[in-house]
Amino acid sequence: MNKSGITLLLIGATGLVGRTMLIVLEETDVPVAGLIPIASADSRGKTVDYAGRSWTVDSLEDSTWKDAQAALLSAGSGIARRWVPILAEAGITCIDNSSAFRGNENIPLVVPEVNGSIIKHDDRIIANPNCSTIQLAVVLAPLHEAFGLEEVIVSTYQSASGAGQKGRNALSEEAAGNQSEQSPFPHQLYDNLIPAIGSCGDNGFFQEEMKLVHETRRILNLPDLKVFPAVVRVPVPYCHGEAVHLKFKSEIEPDLARELLASQKGIIVLDDPDDNFYPTPIECAGKDEVFVGRIRQMPGEKQSLDIWIVADNLRKGAALNAVQILQRLVDEEYLEL
Ligand SMILES: NC(=O)c1ccc[n+]([C@@H]2O[C@H](COP(=O)([O-])OP(=O)(O)OC[C@H]3O[C@@H](n4cnc5c(N)ncnc54)[C@H](OP(=O)(O)O)[C@@H]3O)[C@@H](O)[C@H]2O)c1
Repeated sequence: MNKSGITLLLIGATGLVGRTMLIVLEETDVPVAGLIPIASADSRGKTVDYAGRSWTVDSLEDSTWKDAQAALLSAGSGIARRWVPILAEAGITCIDNSSAFRGNENIPLVVPEVNGSIIKHDDRIIANPNCSTIQLAVVLAPLHEAFGLEEVIVSTYQSASGAGQKGRNALSEEAAGNQSEQSPFPHQLYDNLIPAIGSCGDNGFFQEEMKLVHETRRILNLPDLKVFPAVVRVPVPYCHGEAVHLKFKSEIEPDLARELLASQKGIIVLDDPDDNFYPTPIECAGKDEVFVGRIRQMPGEKQSLDIWIVADNLRKGAALNAVQILQRLVDEEYLEL
């Protein structure tokens, strides 16, 4: 360990999330003294910029990763399953953005402001939740604490960049009137809506829908929470929107909810529908916070609330949340600086 900071392994450094991590890292106080950027063999020799200099991208097979104290991974679940156990065994604390370890009860699944305290000193693997779950959990946690959450009905409106660089490229190519050869989507996305993300399970729900169920329950520590999800890929480059209907144990008032949410660090309430004031993806892209608007209650349904949530899937939905976990490890002195 270098006295001035950690040596950080960044796996997936050339991808959408990896590049956003580099930007977010520069904006935080995480003391990074050395960076080891990793990507596929196709990217070997490319460079990424961080802290005013260029760093050459390497492959895991060839790199000097043993010098690292921590690793941020955003290279998919296959790489994570193969490499995380090896890195963790070598004493490197791994924060993984893929779904590889999110279902493992022995591995913390963390949104720092909600359940960061579950991380223990000797945890070597920490899972970063799915992007649509992170923004939902950030908003549900304070509401649950105050009013007791019973049921969540959530419809997502997920951007093209949620499917990585290929997804982002597909939308641009289709918008320019071309067919995208490498589109990760099962249909044209431009001018369209696709009510499916991931593969469909035997129960008729798509993978992304079941992630919302399982991960929300885990993060909020509510194993029996009723969650009814529907996911839709929309032709928007950045940010996921979510229309959410909530049921609580106690009565709740929209004004109280508005006040409570506005007082939370990391949440911004934009809610004046008469003036067309509510969060939209264009305004929220590139921002760190989770934005909430359209806070309302159906007359007579005093234990319910309807809300609209938007966040940048690459920021709070991925890179920022992972870097906040890393920051917590540093602050708690779990990484020996
Ligand atoms: N996009 C989102 O909103 C989002 C949100 C939450 C979680 N995630 C998760 O984050 C991960 C990355 O997503 P992304 O959107 O950044 O995807 P992406 O843009 O496709 O980037 C993938 C990255 O993985 C690298 N990679 C591929 N094969 C590799 C290998 N064999 N060894 C090392 N690196 C390899 C790629 O390198 P090359 O450039 O060389 O191909 C690239 O740097 C995925 O697990 C995804 O599920 C994404």
